[in-house]
Amino acid sequence: MKGRTAKAHSTTNGGKQMKIDTNITIFGGTGDLTFRKLLPALYTMVLTGKLPNASRIVIIGRRDYDSGSYRRAARDWVEKFTRLPFKEDSFLQFAEKLYYYQMNFSDINAYQGLDAYYREQDIGSHIFYYAVAPRFFSVITQGLKEVKGSENGKVILEKPFGENLASAAALNKELEAHFGARGIYRIDHYLGKEMVRNIQAIRFANPIFTDVWNSRYIESVQISALEDMGVETRGGYYDASGALKDMVQNHLLQILSIMAMEEPGEMTPKGLHDAQLDVFTSLRQADEESISDMLVLGQYDGYRQEPLVKPDSKTETFAALKLFIDNTRWKGTPFYIRTGKKTGMREIELSVIFRRPYAQVEPNVLIIKIQPTEGVYLQFNIKRPGDTDDIIPTKMDFCQNCNLVHQLNTPEAYERLITACIKGESSWFSQWDQIELCWNYVSRLKKLYSDTDLPLYSYVPGTPGPGEAERMLGQGEHWLL
Ligand code: BG6
Repeated sequence: MKGRTAKAHSTTNGGKQMKIDTNITIFGGTGDLTFRKLLPALYTMVLTGKLPNASRIVIIGRRDYDSGSYRRAARDWVEKFTRLPFKEDSFLQFAEKLYYYQMNFSDINAYQGLDAYYREQDIGSHIFYYAVAPRFFSVITQGLKEVKGSENGKVILEKPFGENLASAAALNKELEAHFGARGIYRIDHYLGKEMVRNIQAIRFANPIFTDVWNSRYIESVQISALEDMGVETRGGYYDASGALKDMVQNHLLQILSIMAMEEPGEMTPKGLHDAQLDVFTSLRQADEESISDMLVLGQYDGYRQEPLVKPDSKTETFAALKLFIDNTRWKGTPFYIRTGKKTGMREIELSVIFRRPYAQVEPNVLIIKIQPTEGVYLQFNIKRPGDTDDIIPTKMDFCQNCNLVHQLNTPEAYERLITACIKGESSWFSQWDQIELCWNYVSRLKKLYSDTDLPLYSYVPGTPGPGEAERMLGQGEHWLL
């Protein structure tokens, strides 16, 4: 299959070649991620003026489109998934930037054609988005060696970054050899979520929290990310991955590190990165003795009958962890993580449970709501109104996205991350040394769990995972979500 695209394109202006400042190439342009997330995000960036004018998007796929038919297909997806109301004129403006280049990106010989195509244009800088299964990362990187100028570009990669530590390290080496360490942008879309970005502000801009954010005042922290969906059409990928690799190794450990880190010495990407890294290096390692207290894995009934899942699969669709961070700030305070599919709800919440001043009162609880509600909930104690001295808990409940203006002004994670990549803001992406430590941590847990023959508990779809996850909590504690 030879490279092919529509002849006419907007880079000519009255016969004059226009300079393209930013050329975004999306590999996997006919896949689910592109249709559901990337195109709507790029369209919104046009609508909100975040996509530089002199930019262009080249979609690479195997399917038999040309730019015209691709734009028509894109319209349907954008209309369906756009965050902001669909506007015909904005779509046309967006569509003018959209080109289809048909090629088999796993064929190394096809890249000379792509090189020739790009040589016809006046391109300032390249961004390559690998919106494809990880098994294609390597061949695309090799192929891009044929494309002049790509080595000075940036690459955005979707997770999972590798299948284990060894494959992640090999992949990293290969990417660094072509793009250099600073050209690699590893997406963790949780880092683009509004309320995940808000954790730092809540922690460090409020002395009422900053000063008590330690084990002296905090009894425990819970990070819950529950989903009501099962594996749907992703059984093939998921069955080789499981909840620990799919959610914990990346998204949830990233959140944990932001919740637990010291205040960055400087508010720069490096400052943030170093502060997060310190948390990862201080995570207490599991051993054969402690693993049964630290980890509970579960699988929902019916998972083995899902398409592309092995009929005897031992892959976990649920994981609950009890982690300790061995540093002065967190000595003795457990961090609990819980995530699972088909748990009957779609919600992500971070709960900080403070120590009670005395046994008869309820604890203060701060909950940061990540999704679908974005907000902050605070439980505190008051005297019961009336002729009594009873103390009762009450709450302040701030819902950020209940406010339409906030909702409209809050970019979706992919809009943020693509914008951040264009600007070269690396703090929005996961860094290699963090990924390395997280892979190590999670792989070790997984191995100990299976070496010590701990059970994979089953749970009924629609319930919040196996009961054993409740029992791993401290006395009198329960999951707040
Ligand atoms: C992805 C996982 O990274 O995150 C999926 O691969 C999971 O399994 C998804 O469903 C959850 O993302 P969100 O943004 O819907 O919470």
